[in-house]
Amino acid sequence: MNILLLGSGGREHAFAWKMIQSPLCDTLFVAPGNAGMASIATIVAISPTDFEAVKTLVLENNIQMVVVGPEDPLVKGVFDFFKNDAQLTEIPVIGPSQLGAQLEGSKEFAKEFLVKHNIPTAAYDSFTAETVEQGCAFLTTLQPPYVLKADGLAAGKGVLIIQDLAEAQAELRNMLVGQKFGAASEKVVIEEFLDGIELSCFVLTDGKSYKILPTAKDYKRIGEGDTGLNTGGMGAVSPVSFVTDELMQKIETRIVQPTVAGLQKDNITYNGFIFIGLINVKGEPIVIEYNVRMGDPETEVVIPRLKTDLVELFLAVANQKLDEINLEIDERSATTVMLVSGGYPEDFEKGKKITGLENVTDSIVFHAGTKLEGTDVVTNGGRVMAITSYGENFQEALKKSYTNVEKIQFEKKNFRRDIGNDLL
Ligand code: AMP
Ligand code: GLY
Repeated sequence: MNILLLGSGGREHAFAWKMIQSPLCDTLFVAPGNAGMASIATIVAISPTDFEAVKTLVLENNIQMVVVGPEDPLVKGVFDFFKNDAQLTEIPVIGPSQLGAQLEGSKEFAKEFLVKHNIPTAAYDSFTAETVEQGCAFLTTLQPPYVLKADGLAAGKGVLIIQDLAEAQAELRNMLVGQKFGAASEKVVIEEFLDGIELSCFVLTDGKSYKILPTAKDYKRIGEGDTGLNTGGMGAVSPVSFVTDELMQKIETRIVQPTVAGLQKDNITYNGFIFIGLINVKGEPIVIEYNVRMGDPETEVVIPRLKTDLVELFLAVANQKLDEINLEIDERSATTVMLVSGGYPEDFEKGKKITGLENVTDSIVFHAGTKLEGTDVVTNGGRVMAITSYGENFQEALKKSYTNVEKIQFEKKNFRRDIGNDLL
């Protein structure tokens, strides 16, 4: 079967790496892909949100399945585009419907879903420009710090956590009236602050049954010791040592089951990944967000631990036979360290030549922001590549990742040296 994967990051490279290992996969197309994927798949320079171009690609190449990596095409309705097109309707799309994608596309939609289905989440209220004064008054009823969330997609930057009341009120005005995040902050969710350790739970569902994938923890801040600005993620570790069976049991019964059941009850078509962001507050898991895709760089440690054929798994999702699949997981730990461009997550330069890739041994290099320039691999984004390794424990895996990190060079290379330190 020919398969099309949409996306261009480390998450997609990890999917591609795994999918081409499947005997079910003939030709893998990736749009738009990156330099790493160019050596294992056919990369096509079209945007994942240009649905007409995607359609032409699919029809011209006899593509029989589409796997969606990032949230953008999902929120814009790629699933529905296929379902509603007579020529595409039989081709499965792995990802939720546009309505399902609202779980990530609108914080307010997600909060309403959580409350409706009795899934534990932080207390909240939401406001618009018309109700900005009520919003400021609502803030006075909360304890600091104050959590303000732009309703729509804001490239991971739409959440503000502020200590000072007056500053929080000013930021609320700035978001609602000053359009700080454009249309994404026409509505703002104000939420109770939850104090605890963050973790993520990854679920694959066919809308009826589900599989819980290995746990992973990512490192979001740019600086060591979790300091500085938020990034897309600077590294990840799987499994997460503090997630006990007891905690996982609570996550499954209180959060995963009611989420999948809620989608069914609300008639929301959902055939794809659900990434549940949680905070563990004194042993009680509470949802802070849903994403409708896998995490990045969590995918770069979760997928390598999956022994089950990923294409077989996706086919089971498409055919609503996920309950017939037995998920096999590698017992080893996996870690990844992200190499980023100096300056990221603020301004950075692109086009830096990357050398030393041929010296890497005992790690898998998943490209994120790279492209080919002639025969050279050059940087093409803030997050450049993820260096993933296996080990009997995460320390052993990290040692391999860090050894190989040193072998890869590009101008202004940056990375965190403390991935996993908090788990020791
Ligand atoms: P989100 O985009 O919803 O994941 O939020 C971004 C980050 O803000 C999360 O990864 C958390 O670190 C933090 N955060 C979000 N909501 C809360 C909350 N209610 N309490 C504490 N921290 C939060
Ligand atoms: N690593 C966090 C995310 O993918 O949103």
